[in-house]
Amino acid sequence: MREIDGFQIQTVADDPGLVDRIQGLIDSVWPSFVTQSSSPKGHPLPFSWFGIYDLWPQLQFVLLDPVDGEMVAACNALTLAWDGAAEELPDTGWNWAMHQARKDFEAGRTPTMGCGLSVTINPARRGQRLSGVTLRAMKQLVEETGVKRFFVPVRPTTKARYPITPMGVFCRWTNAEGLPLDPWMRVHARLGARVVKPCNQSQPLAGTVAEWEMWLDLPLPTSGEYVGPGLLAPLRVDREADEAICMEPNVWMEHPLAK
Ligand SMILES: CC(C)(COP(=O)(O)OP(=O)(O)OC[C@H]1O[C@@H](n2cnc3c(N)ncnc32)[C@H](O)[C@@H]1OP(=O)(O)O)[C@@H](O)C(=O)NCCC(=O)NCCS
Repeated sequence: MREIDGFQIQTVADDPGLVDRIQGLIDSVWPSFVTQSSSPKGHPLPFSWFGIYDLWPQLQFVLLDPVDGEMVAACNALTLAWDGAAEELPDTGWNWAMHQARKDFEAGRTPTMGCGLSVTINPARRGQRLSGVTLRAMKQLVEETGVKRFFVPVRPTTKARYPITPMGVFCRWTNAEGLPLDPWMRVHARLGARVVKPCNQSQPLAGTVAEWEMWLDLPLPTSGEYVGPGLLAPLRVDREADEAICMEPNVWMEHPLAK
């Protein structure tokens, strides 16, 4: 049994029954426009999100409290074969990693980089500085796969407060300590990660106008651009096509791995 700071690390490879618990936490915490939206035309996802549990079960994991067995955190990651310079990582970030990893897996290519996809802390355990512990656990599992590099398309938690600020500007804002202004990026930075660059088309989130009105609890009467609660970037509404799309930007960060 793996451990970190007194918590048990359990992966889907150890216990396939964890999939439902992980997804249950994600669905209860993440905004509906993230968990329920689809890919817009031209941005197809090659396989369902759930495919990762079958292909990389050793990188889907939870932290468990050894005292009561409570799930403290749930995480998703994968590996892919990519040797480019960090600065050349695609602008399509998270979505690209999902596509490329699947293609590499099917072609039998040896993975060379790990990619973090999500970290979710149980709301009852937030604010206890467990996100850094969880990220260290992810890094440990990624290292065990034998890859030499580890990147994360980070979704900054406070970007929604600045929906019209370009991510390329936001991701360079720092606090008095010289660390990222955003607290979630800061957790990565404290573990030694560096900001590589924004990925402006990381997660394309699409739905019908009625779906978006429901997700945002906001009428969208005409075509055009909107800011809405929780959105990292403006939502583009096309009433004629009955489609609304938010192109979610993320930030590529690189974590050093032990050589
Ligand atoms: C983002 C998340 C993982 C952070 O975990 P957490 O338990 O809330 O935060 P931690 O206690 O580990 O603290 C991490 C940092 O965030 C800051 N922080 C915590 N709560 C905060 C809040 N409500 N507002 C602003 N900053 C906050 C902490 O001060 C700390 O920064 P510091 O080290 O510079 O002081 C967690 O809130 C979460 O699961 N959110 C929903 C899913 C998500 O957005 N995941 C991230 C994208 S993958």
